[in-house]
Amino acid sequence: MPPATPQPINLFEYEPLAKARLEPLAYDYYAGGAEDELTLRENRAAYGRIKLRPRMLVGVGQIELATTVLGISISLPVMVPPMAFHGMAHPDGEVATARGAGAAGTLMVVSPPSNRSLEEVAAAATGPLWFQLYVYKDRDVSASLVRRAEAAGYRALVWTVDFPVAGRREADERNGFGLPPHLRQGNFTGRDEVRPTAPGGSGLARVVAAEYDRSLTWDALAWLRSLTRIPIVVKGILTAEDATRAVEHGADAIAVSNHGGRQLDTAVATIEALPEVVEAVAGRCEVYVDGGIRRGTDVLKALALGARAVFVGRPVLWGLAVSGAEGVQRVLELLRHELEVDMALAGCPTPESTDRSLVRLPNGGAPL
Ligand code: LAC
Repeated sequence: MPPATPQPINLFEYEPLAKARLEPLAYDYYAGGAEDELTLRENRAAYGRIKLRPRMLVGVGQIELATTVLGISISLPVMVPPMAFHGMAHPDGEVATARGAGAAGTLMVVSPPSNRSLEEVAAAATGPLWFQLYVYKDRDVSASLVRRAEAAGYRALVWTVDFPVAGRREADERNGFGLPPHLRQGNFTGRDEVRPTAPGGSGLARVVAAEYDRSLTWDALAWLRSLTRIPIVVKGILTAEDATRAVEHGADAIAVSNHGGRQLDTAVATIEALPEVVEAVAGRCEVYVDGGIRRGTDVLKALALGARAVFVGRPVLWGLAVSGAEGVQRVLELLRHELEVDMALAGCPTPESTDRSLVRLPNGGAPL
């Protein structure tokens, strides 16, 4: 018998396995960042510059990872962020991701550009769901998505505000990225204008330029609020100034994000933006963070710096590509296991027991 392929033992090991299974066009789309990919790399590198100050003999006989986000219980402080077109990774697409997230006891944010419809995902999901929102020039398109999401039981909207245009992802331009013809746009039956098509540069960038409303200002939050009673998370905030505006305009939560380094290159790493956002928010709403989180220690540092929970994106897609729902679950369980060990070693038995004293920021914590 040939030796069994060893199972990945950390999140990084999923990426080459997934890459071997994915079409290059799909891998490049998922993995890529904007321009020189400096922000993409910085998101990750910044975690290495933050040092932990572990505490001993606090009694870590019982480690509890469960927490709540907007009142929803999740079994670990890690969630699945909105990501487009899971169908390129697995035939069951977002349905498989939702099953994997639910099996791991956490929530998933479903993206409008998905291959399964938001209703199909809701019907298959075993855990809580939030729905991502982009605002299109045709406001009725967004309004109808909001109504559908609320009717299907989605429990929050994640309004993504860092996407007036698509960042320049050069791999997508070279590849002439378009949604492979065998995949459908789950949420937009009959609206071919929102379908990214090859060839000729990035099909996604063309759709965004044509369809997304780049004239949006903060007033749009009041409009969104008029459409729905479910909470609104504002995703894509990187500064204290915008965090304050988001709270003043009624955001129920803020996600510190630079879109996985896919939008404005050289934008600040998210873990470096988190402290000023948390300070500006001053407890008025929950704050989440994404970007570059691969290790239990990364989650711990984010919690210590005031994040209520984090999002882990690309590794979930790699797990999906490797073995569907089970792969998604396994990626999340690996991170859970690592976080448990790291919480014990750091002397933090619960997410709430972390605070700023757990970390030493580079440069003495002064703005970098
Ligand atoms: C992206 C968008 C669609 O980053 O979220 O590709």
